[in-house]
This record gives sequence, C-alpha cells and structure tokens, in this order.
Amino acid sequence: MTQSVGFVPTMGYLHEGHCMLIRASKQENDITIVSIFVNPLQFGPTEDLVNYPRDIERDKNRLEAEGVELLFLPKDDDIYPNKISGMVTTVAVDEAFSSRACGTFRQGHFEGVATIVLKLFNIVEPNRAYFGLKDYQQFVLIQRMIHDLNLKVTLHGLPTHREPDGLAMSSRNTYLTEQDRVLAPMINKTLHEILPLLREGGSIADGRGIFESRLTDLSSRFRVQYLECYDRDFNPVTTIIEGERVLVTAVYLGDVRLIDNSLF
Ligand code: PAF
Repeated sequence: MTQSVGFVPTMGYLHEGHCMLIRASKQENDITIVSIFVNPLQFGPTEDLVNYPRDIERDKNRLEAEGVELLFLPKDDDIYPNKISGMVTTVAVDEAFSSRACGTFRQGHFEGVATIVLKLFNIVEPNRAYFGLKDYQQFVLIQRMIHDLNLKVTLHGLPTHREPDGLAMSSRNTYLTEQDRVLAPMINKTLHEILPLLREGGSIADGRGIFESRLTDLSSRFRVQYLECYDRDFNPVTTIIEGERVLVTAVYLGDVRLIDNSLF
C-alpha cells in the first residue's frame, strides 16, 4: 500500500505556527516531510534575504521533538543549479493578482513563491500540503496554481497562530526590539476595531484612515503600508457587507514589516 505524504514547506526559524502545520500533517498522513529553504527568488533586492533569521540546529531539535520523519534541507545550488540568472522557466503570476496587496510592494515576490513551491511539490510529490493563512494572498496563489496547473496535491490552510497577546506568529517577529514587541499586538487589535465600521457599510478608505490614525497616535514607529479588502479568492470587492471577505494589511513597526489579516 502506498503511504500518504504530508508536506510543510518553510523558510525555517520554526515557531509554534509551523508546529501546528506539522501536527495537522502528522495526523492526516503516514509520512510528514518539512522543507527548510530560504528562497532567494522571492526576495527583492532591498529585502531581508541575507539577514533572514536562520538557526538550523534549533529547527532540527524542534522537528525531532515534533516527531518529523524527514527534513528536506536543500542548498541554493540544489534548487537553482544554473543560478537564478540562468533560469529559462519560472511560474508567471497574473499581473492583476500580483499587483494586489503585498504584490504591489514586493515586485516579483509571488512569481518567486509560485516557482519555488512548484519545484518543491515536484521534488517531494506530496499528497497534501499545509500552509498558514497568515500569508493569505500566498495561500490563494498556491490554491490557484494547483487548480490552474492541474497539480495533484491537496492544499490545507490553517488559521493564523497567535501569541497570547494576539500578535500573529512570524519568524520576522524576532527582529522586533523589546519596545516594539510590546506595540506589535496593536496591529491585530486595531484591525478588529475597524471591522464593525466596515460591516456597517463604512468604506475601506475610511477604515484605512482610522486604522492608520489609531496606530500612529499610539506610536510614530507605526507606518501602514496598505490596508485592503478582498473576497476570499482575493478578488477586489465593491461592497464589504455581502459575502465573506478578508481584510489584509502590512504595517512597518520601525524597520520591521509585519503582515496580518482578518477573515470575516
Ligand atoms: O511562507 C513561506 O515560508 C514561504 O513563502 C514558502 C511557502 C516556504 C516558499 O518559500
């Protein structure tokens, strides 16, 4: 009998959110494979590729504690043997999609994500793959890629895992200073504060204005990059009150860019 394979692709510096994905995979599959690869193709030239947090020994201990059978830990040359500059084929992402939310500010990011995820799927050949919904736009992209390219993998999205104070778990939280770590949960709290206004028919522009002023009144260290609202397939919406929506945001706290969302 063939064994089912669950796959959790990561960029390492594992946290409890990753562990939730791993536990879901272990529950639903015979074998769980975790990959750790900080994918250069999804980082822009001014982004944090070099400084992205890495601690393989710590990650290995965590995976062992979770009872993970297999870790796939490729080097850049294993994934991009001809270097990125030598690639002829990558996955193209529709411009309308990649010019929304994160894509507007991270040129080429989603092409980089789609390409690495497709490559990893082809190498690992999983039956099921597990992603967190914190990166909601990324989740929809993978969902679309699986559909558009007839991939034989079932996608599972797990809710954003949060610290007890509401901050969405992210490897990048480690960049926060002690003072900024205290401020960071206000992003999620403020996101929820504006939901009633939107549900009652307030415009997204008004919501953004309030979101921005509440955060910047708290601290000048906050800078809102975007606050946008989409339907669950990440299509633009004209009304907020009908149907299921996702409110997505990226906020700089000092130099650290944090993303969060609320599904409503
Ligand atoms: O979400 C991430 O950690 C990355 O974008 C992913 C899916 C592992 C691809 O590099």
